[in-house]
Amino acid sequence: MSKILVTGGCGYIGAHTVVELLQAGYEVISIDDNSRSNAWMMDRVAIITGKKVVNHAINLCDMEALGAFFEQEKNISGVIHFAAYKSVGESAKEPLLYFENNLLGQINLLKCVQKHEIAHFVFSSSCTVYGNPEQLPVTEETPLQEAESPYGRTKVVGEAFLRDFVKVASTKVIALRYFNPVGAHPSNEIGEYILGVPSYLLPYMTQTAIGKREKLTVFGQDYPTRDGTCIRDYIHVCDIAAAHVNAIQYLEGGKSKASFEVFNLGSGIGQSVLEMIESFERVNDLKLNWQFGDRRAGDVVAVYANNSKAIEALGWQLRFNLDDMMRTAWAWEQRVAQEGL
Ligand code: WQD
Repeated sequence: MSKILVTGGCGYIGAHTVVELLQAGYEVISIDDNSRSNAWMMDRVAIITGKKVVNHAINLCDMEALGAFFEQEKNISGVIHFAAYKSVGESAKEPLLYFENNLLGQINLLKCVQKHEIAHFVFSSSCTVYGNPEQLPVTEETPLQEAESPYGRTKVVGEAFLRDFVKVASTKVIALRYFNPVGAHPSNEIGEYILGVPSYLLPYMTQTAIGKREKLTVFGQDYPTRDGTCIRDYIHVCDIAAAHVNAIQYLEGGKSKASFEVFNLGSGIGQSVLEMIESFERVNDLKLNWQFGDRRAGDVVAVYANNSKAIEALGWQLRFNLDDMMRTAWAWEQRVAQEGL
């Protein structure tokens, strides 16, 4: 079986993807400097899979260390690149930090990929590239919009870099545009590690339910949607993770229609914030303390995916529904509280 390098393997989507890769029989190595993740994620991955993945604590901006790693590590057939900062709010305050970490890190990685003629590359992109779309659901052909944040810009620009890169490199590239990944592994060994106060909806909900936060504020109640709150496409992190295995298999099977292709990874279903609260309360049999507040700057009204390209071309199968997302997210929050993670 081929050897896959995962950058950001100790992160949220990264660790779930490492599990899926191992379970599909791949050999996996990871690069993660653990600046915003935990090295123990790999121990948890080993509990789930029975396999211990070696993580190399290298910052992708350190070209010397990265270059030395690639000189030593032979026979990498594909790279899945997750390692990046992802806080929208922080990126607005520190754009250069985001440009350096996300874009310089990507450039350094691509230099190594080109030098060592690595055949396959999968990039973590985001639905944020669609901005406030005029038509729903969004397909991969929906026009991209001006980025709402420096974080979003690193995804738009990251994709653009890859479009140019494939013209000169022998590498075949896929960019996967994630919608809103939520939930945790059903084993409850791994989940999202939240640094500070969460900005994302579901972590804020679970932290409120456990008592870490006093109250959830629903940002805005007068949007032009069915109940006045914003609509998003929430998707289980294990489904997102499995799509990376499908993407690697697609590349390895020589099925690429072009050197650079993009795929939406969403459930295809739009949920409002109020529907998310209702579903969380129902599935977990609890009451959430919440109130309406002002709109949040930069929020798009509604976005959800047309996911048929990934389903048809990659053979991607969705295994988890909204109830599973709510159940596993809450189970993980309780585990975090029990163990003081
Ligand atoms: C979801 C909904 C909020 C928190 C982020 C990134 C984006 C992309 C996807 C990575 C919105 C509402 C939230 C709260 C709330 N990420 N909300 N109270 O806005 O879709 O976008 O994830 O690429 O770049 O910005 O996700 O979870 O922050 O918000 O009412 O305390 O929940 O207004 O409608 P979002 P989110």
